[in-house]
Amino acid sequence: MNKQIGKKLGLRLVLGITGGVAAYKAAELLRLLVKAGIDVQVVMTKSACQFITPLTMQALSGKPVFTSMWDASIANGMPHIELSRRADAILIAPASADFIAKLVYGRADDLLSTLCLARDCALLVAPAMNKQMWENPATQRNVLQLKADGINIFGPGSGEQACGEVGLGRMLEAADLLSLVTTHFTPKLLAGKHVLITAGATLEMIDPVRAITNLSSGKMGFSLAEAARDMGATVTLIRGASALPNPSGINTIEALSADAMYQLVMQNIAPKNSAAQDIFISVAAVADYSPKLIHDHKIKKNEQTITLELKQNKDILSEVVTLPNAPFCVGFAAESEHLIQHAEQKRLRKKLPLIVANLVVDGMGGDENLVTLIDDLGRHPLPKADKKIIAHEILHHVYRLISR
Ligand code: PMT
Repeated sequence: MNKQIGKKLGLRLVLGITGGVAAYKAAELLRLLVKAGIDVQVVMTKSACQFITPLTMQALSGKPVFTSMWDASIANGMPHIELSRRADAILIAPASADFIAKLVYGRADDLLSTLCLARDCALLVAPAMNKQMWENPATQRNVLQLKADGINIFGPGSGEQACGEVGLGRMLEAADLLSLVTTHFTPKLLAGKHVLITAGATLEMIDPVRAITNLSSGKMGFSLAEAARDMGATVTLIRGASALPNPSGINTIEALSADAMYQLVMQNIAPKNSAAQDIFISVAAVADYSPKLIHDHKIKKNEQTITLELKQNKDILSEVVTLPNAPFCVGFAAESEHLIQHAEQKRLRKKLPLIVANLVVDGMGGDENLVTLIDDLGRHPLPKADKKIIAHEILHHVYRLISR
């Protein structure tokens, strides 16, 4: 997830680990941060070292881990200043109730708390504690104070706790924290914009058990929805068939057939009670044809051959682009040959300001894609990359076009 997005953002983090059972989750968090291309320096409190070893974190980050104020290996002998000067943020995960209390009072009795007090960068805090400790008025007061001080609180989540109780207090999952970190640092170029995206495959029923579908996984469309959200847009995602979970912070609606998707797109393009969409991105692999008749009962195996009669579906994108006050429309072209030629023809035929051309072999199903953006100015090939990166590139291009 978010592979190399941190590198693109040029992010440098101090990951501060405090004492709590959730410290074991910090190892997975570190692995994901590093995989995302984020430069991470780990700092651990003494109690954190009771739960997970600095050696594990050193192996995962590829750097020495700092645990003491008196570490002579920092060049000027001032780790409390030096470490945060190099960082865009300090992320405390897990943050114990005790450490949160320390932050409130500006205490500085170990390396991590001193680093937080001496920082000139963002502070992101992911609390993790027993639910009673979380609900205690003292902790609630402390968290409110941290928020008032401009410190970002990520979570906690709810669920089963190490002590056996169930409730609020669990540290957010590593993937969710990674996503919150990258969102925090993504420039909000699409703030105030409403973006509608379709994603995934459509499913055209033949009878109650069989359907016509395709191999779209939804990854490209979901990545675009998440990137638009991270860039500050209000996003509506109309999802066809896809195994992916609904992304957080996005209004996600399911539409399995091409017809259902058409109806939902039209309802959401200029909804009665909220703002009209500014941008429509049609990523879904919508069936061009569906069975003329959906059988009520399972078709029996009586004949050697059977014939399915198909009718053409409405072209959703073409319908949207011709609406009065149409949003800025982005189409995709999935081709198996003559990519650029077919995509250019599709763009002109559908009267699109921008089309994203990809070969089925490059884009369908996998985590990566190789695309060429085609607009009035010509062709803009992008290097092969994770769909998360491609999504950001596409939206930056859209931003440039709509800002003209
Ligand atoms: O989901 P993934 O596994 O990540 O794969 C991503 C993808 C390959 C599906 C994606 O990158 C992609 O190319 N999506 C468009 C697939 C497609 O249907 O292409 P097309 O060339 O057939 O259609 C052209 C455009 O018209 C598309 O924007 C499509 O959404 C739209 N269309 C097509 C038919 C139809 N009835 N209504 C439409 O709106």
